[in-house]
Amino acid sequence: MVTYAPAKPDSKRISGVIPLHGEEGFEGMRRAGRLAAEALDLLYDHVEPGVTTEKLDDLAFEFARDNGAFPATLMYKGYRHSVCTSINHVVCHGIPSDKPLREGDIVNIDITLIVDGWHGDTSRMYPVGNISRKAERLIEVVYDSLALGIEAAKPGNTTGDIGAAIQAHAESERTSVVRDFVGHGLGRLFHDEPNILHFGTPGTGAELKPGMIFTIEPMINLGRPHVKVLSDGWTAVTRDRTLSAQAEHSIGITETGHEIFTLSPRGLFNPLAARNAQ
Ligand code: MF3
Ligand code: CO
Ligand code: CO
Repeated sequence: MVTYAPAKPDSKRISGVIPLHGEEGFEGMRRAGRLAAEALDLLYDHVEPGVTTEKLDDLAFEFARDNGAFPATLMYKGYRHSVCTSINHVVCHGIPSDKPLREGDIVNIDITLIVDGWHGDTSRMYPVGNISRKAERLIEVVYDSLALGIEAAKPGNTTGDIGAAIQAHAESERTSVVRDFVGHGLGRLFHDEPNILHFGTPGTGAELKPGMIFTIEPMINLGRPHVKVLSDGWTAVTRDRTLSAQAEHSIGITETGHEIFTLSPRGLFNPLAARNAQ
């Protein structure tokens, strides 16, 4: 059974109940989400062949510092960077390094910024120069899947409706949904209830209620859904080495639907679409 409780400003522990946030929480998430989106907007100008993911990580850190924010991943469970940079067959949690990006790569950059205690968590897929048609198609599928998942995020629906919408679209495009990583509640905590599976059955899971705040962040593979984590303890890759893509928004459930906290002020949430529109 699922139970609900008002979010306590000082709750530091996942309690097994899904917090319901009020206006203060939504206001905090607006500011944190917007700053995280602005950080990814800034990185749009720097992703190109030859740039290292370490350089992108430095830029993200400096942006956070200059704006009174702190990257939630920095020193998180031993992670030492401000962003995750997941290239090609890396599914998620790729570690920034001194290896330059190459023409044709696709890279997910995932950032979570803490602003006044609130966590804004978002990620996008960036093309590096010209990319293959199959990479373009995968990116299109991941953004469309996320949009369909978000559309299902409204009071009366369930977490399973979100997952089912994502899975149905991804599989109709002959791609697969990663099962090993899920979206998550967030707020003053980085990871909270509920879990948001990106696959599932309509009508199952927890009922969505106004005040819930969580991410939706599907990872979609061109090949099979299976992943493994490399010996660094972080980097998750597709077992069959096929391309993987991910996009993430932080959202809140409202009386009538949802509010997206991590919209791009510059309209760059899908960098590939933004570039192709120019
Ligand atoms: N930002 C990731 C998420 O969407 C979490 C990264 S945790 C890290 O939940 F330690 F790998 F950075
Ligand atoms: Co997340
Ligand atoms: Co994230």
